[in-house]
Amino acid sequence: MKLMIINGPNLNMLGIREPAHYGRETYEDLIKKIEDRAQKLGVEVLCLQSNHEGDLVDFIQSAYSRYDGIIINPGAYTHTSIAILDAAKAVALPLVEVHISKVEEREDFRQVSYIRLAAMATITGHGTDGYLEAMELLMEHLQGGAYQ
Ligand code: DQA
Repeated sequence: MKLMIINGPNLNMLGIREPAHYGRETYEDLIKKIEDRAQKLGVEVLCLQSNHEGDLVDFIQSAYSRYDGIIINPGAYTHTSIAILDAAKAVALPLVEVHISKVEEREDFRQVSYIRLAAMATITGHGTDGYLEAMELLMEHLQGGAYQ
């Protein structure tokens, strides 16, 4: 099973940016945590990050027919990007939306999520553990379903 894990703008600044919302773990800590869990679960993961909307579209497109599922935290593009939503709809892979912070308890402008329209599940406010939960959720979904 192969999962693509995509992080959007400013998530490379984890550990530095707004620790009250995003904690003290760095992006490198996050990747290590994901890769360690993936190894235990026997899942192959590719972790990608970009600050550019078009790169996120390219990442999603590149998952088509090569990956079994996508985990994505589009950062601020969650709230603005129809292009990222369209890419997710185009590849039609099982997708889980993750947010480190509890977006539903934050500003009004964070209450809109375009990617949610293409997501089978959304995990918010569980810190970086949300990515691990997303991996397990996708595994269950893929193993319980048509995945072989
Ligand atoms: C975020 C929440 C977004 O509103 C914000 O723009 C981010 C991170 C989160 O992980 O909580 O960059 O997606």
